[in-house]
Amino acid sequence: MVGLMLSYDSSAGSSPGSADADDAAARYATLLPTPSRVLPGSGSLDVGAGLEVRAEGPDARELEHRATRVVARLGLAAGAARSGTPVPLVLRTAGGASCGYVLDVSPDAVTITATVVEHAVHALTTLTQLLPPSALRADGLPAGPVHLPVGRVEDSPRYGWRGAMLDVVRHYAPPRTVLRYVDLLALHKFNRLHLHLTDDQGWRINSERFPRLAEVGGWRPSTRLGPTGEPDHTPHGGVYSLADLAEIVRYARERGIDVVPEIDVPGHTSALRAAYPELGQPGVEHTVQDTVWAGGSSIRPTRDVAAFLVEVLDELVEATGVRYVHLGGDECDMSWWAGDPQVAAEMAEHGYTEPKQMHGHLLRTLAAHLAGRGVRAVVWDEGLLTGGVLPDTVVMAWRGEKASARAARTHDVVRAPLFPTYFNFDQSDDPAEPRSEGGPVTIADVAAFAPVPDDWDDTQRDHVLGGQFQIWSEWVPDERRIDYLAFPRACALAQVLWSGPVGDLDALTTRIAAHLPRLDALGVAYRPLAGPHSWQTGGEGVWRRTASGTINQTRAWVESISDEP
Ligand code: ACM
Repeated sequence: MVGLMLSYDSSAGSSPGSADADDAAARYATLLPTPSRVLPGSGSLDVGAGLEVRAEGPDARELEHRATRVVARLGLAAGAARSGTPVPLVLRTAGGASCGYVLDVSPDAVTITATVVEHAVHALTTLTQLLPPSALRADGLPAGPVHLPVGRVEDSPRYGWRGAMLDVVRHYAPPRTVLRYVDLLALHKFNRLHLHLTDDQGWRINSERFPRLAEVGGWRPSTRLGPTGEPDHTPHGGVYSLADLAEIVRYARERGIDVVPEIDVPGHTSALRAAYPELGQPGVEHTVQDTVWAGGSSIRPTRDVAAFLVEVLDELVEATGVRYVHLGGDECDMSWWAGDPQVAAEMAEHGYTEPKQMHGHLLRTLAAHLAGRGVRAVVWDEGLLTGGVLPDTVVMAWRGEKASARAARTHDVVRAPLFPTYFNFDQSDDPAEPRSEGGPVTIADVAAFAPVPDDWDDTQRDHVLGGQFQIWSEWVPDERRIDYLAFPRACALAQVLWSGPVGDLDALTTRIAAHLPRLDALGVAYRPLAGPHSWQTGGEGVWRRTASGTINQTRAWVESISDEP
């Protein structure tokens, strides 16, 4: 987008030349992710009297609603603690604009022009970051002058899918933790929250149609947390009611984030099998698993099971109105299918010669049902190797480079490779890092991540929707551990997905350092750039580090399994 360098008359702004104003101007260099174009002006605008929202154009009502709520959270609503004449905050959408949004801070107004409401929300996030970090505290900015630096930001995202996956199965995260996480993601302009809701270790949806899912699958009787793998015999768990999930979806959508709930089938289904044994292999019992990699159970990919799953999906979609559902499809034990009379009968009916074709068949059946409800299906990359997924199913590529490259030849792809987007690995080689699953995956690794590798052709490039980071939660018992693993690596991924390749790691590190006071204001227990706080280390106890420096072996393993269905 072509922009003009603005030279506002600084005499109209408050406190030109003051330390506050200098500090304000420097704030453009702290915006994270870095906008496409920043044109700092001179002087500053004092919004201490509050901001008065004035929305215009076809989306005026929606813009007014969103902006009014943001302004209130920042403590900048006119009236109450604010006295004087409020400053206009003008918002409009203009379809033909050549970048996502333009944010103008002039000496007498703030103006946002965006292509769509979602980008106006991003502009409000940029505006938030131009304020002092204390604007992010729960009670917003205190009364008194508040300087916004005069200038202009023109900005568009590099990728349309900027996601985060949170495993709320291995350890349950209460709704308030998820809502807070949504806020943290929105601050970094992420726009997808993939909630991994079912697995061998639990079932987190309180289905009203199938109550045993929550009764049996909603908690783990024990977990092998410690380095010696001893079961701790301490139950934990929890489920989201349909109302909880609907709230999370609504809350996220207002902040520009689509929630992508995952019901992982037909593998990773020990909890489902524990609740409804008839869906799996006769005579084989399964319990909710107490280990991370359980070699867990699978269900039958047959018509009766599909009908059960359709009811589960319908209940979820009807309650939440989500636009995407992830169907899983990863790491499925199909070894018993050929010997199962029901599977064999359906294979014969469809003319299939290999059991794995039933895996693809089930995923296609469920995806087609979702499509009929206007919902787009997402699957892990195994789904592509078992008879083909529907043309519009999104493939989430988690394994090696080979798996991603193959998927991008035919399907829209979200890049989620184990290295470097699994943030449940250590952040460094520091022996004090708390127990994780190995690693490390460093900020530098994340910053070097190329969602589109250089040697991909145009077809593959066009299929890349974006990428996301994942936090698998076997060793993530609470919110503070989520914070520790996510931040600041998520800052680096936000930069890659919104702003494009990170040319200068030092410059990014400086930008992240300047951004951290915002996370402090929000009470985020991030890992400091210099290493963990004493209270974040693993110590000598149950959280001591056990698998350091294994990332190359892990990378080789994940590449080696990339051709397995
Ligand atoms: C996965 O890590 N099994 C998606």
